[in-house]
Amino acid sequence: MNAVVAVSGLTRRFGDFVAVDSLDLNVAQGRIFGFLGPNGSGKSTTIRMLCGLLQPSSGSGHVLGLDIMTRYEEIKRRIGYMSQKFSLYDDLTVEENIDFFSGLYGVARARRGARKAWALEMAELGGMRNALTGSLAAGWKQRLALGCAVLHEPDILFLDEPTSGVDPLARRLFWDLIAHMAHAGTTVFVTTHYMDEAEYCDELALIYRGRLIAAGEPGELKRSALSQHIMEVRVARPYDALDAVERSGLVQEAALFGDTLHLTVADAAQARAQLPPWFEHNGFGDAGVEEVMPTMEDVFVGLIEAEDRE
Ligand SMILES: Nc1ncnc2c1ncn2[C@@H]1O[C@H](COP(=O)(O)OP(=O)(O)O)[C@@H](O)[C@H]1O
Ligand SMILES: [Mg+2]
Repeated sequence: MNAVVAVSGLTRRFGDFVAVDSLDLNVAQGRIFGFLGPNGSGKSTTIRMLCGLLQPSSGSGHVLGLDIMTRYEEIKRRIGYMSQKFSLYDDLTVEENIDFFSGLYGVARARRGARKAWALEMAELGGMRNALTGSLAAGWKQRLALGCAVLHEPDILFLDEPTSGVDPLARRLFWDLIAHMAHAGTTVFVTTHYMDEAEYCDELALIYRGRLIAAGEPGELKRSALSQHIMEVRVARPYDALDAVERSGLVQEAALFGDTLHLTVADAAQARAQLPPWFEHNGFGDAGVEEVMPTMEDVFVGLIEAEDRE
């Protein structure tokens, strides 16, 4: 494998607190690598170590073949990085931000015009080049930040929660852009706490409390979760039903999923036989019970709950 990111035992402590705990990761070239985890699980701390912005406490790692312990200055020049706060200047226009970042990343003068035109087109911001960045909606800022992060044509792009706070349509469009870049050969290392976005990634790692709890391709992870079954239940008063069924002893996990319940069970046939009469008997009327393929969210919620029980 042509590993663009390879880390082993990567650890970062803040005092006694272990924010990232013995992480092993490998990311191949041209892949979209999704680094998922709830808030506070260690995603940004990991990205900052990979981008040469934070010194690891122990372990080792290479990005583009460069040692993250010693060659962080070169790493910083060769990667693209979009931080969680999109470090754009609100009081500059769209075009001025692009010019600023072109200079910062050392884009050759002769290429700056072409790269600016490319970024404006990619982000579809051509018509807004003179708008103040601070006046843009979140989705447009996000696209501008992405354009600015790749002006110097990096081989790898690190995106830290790029879709946070952006509406669903803009999130979708943004993932199209990411796919486009990966297709052109750029490796994309992207963090998110939106579990549904896992479906857009080629490869996933799930981090929780600083520890890697699962990794693999989305399909692989779903299949490995199939020793359990997800039963989708349509029932009146889903909130009350959730509470009651959790205490019934009939299911391993229960979660609301839209206006249905997703119940995790060991035996699907038994659940199909037992659950409808149980709902009926407990005053929830006629319940539709059907086995469904787990979503990535089901898989991750299950893994995190299993980790919490340990
Ligand atoms: N500079 C720091 N000093 C102390 N604790 C920190 C520092 N940076 C992050 N942490 C802690 O490390 C944990 C992981 O943080 P972070 O990597 O930002 O998580 P995520 O990006 O997944 O939300 C959190 O509990 C956070 O409070
Ligand atoms: Mg973060």
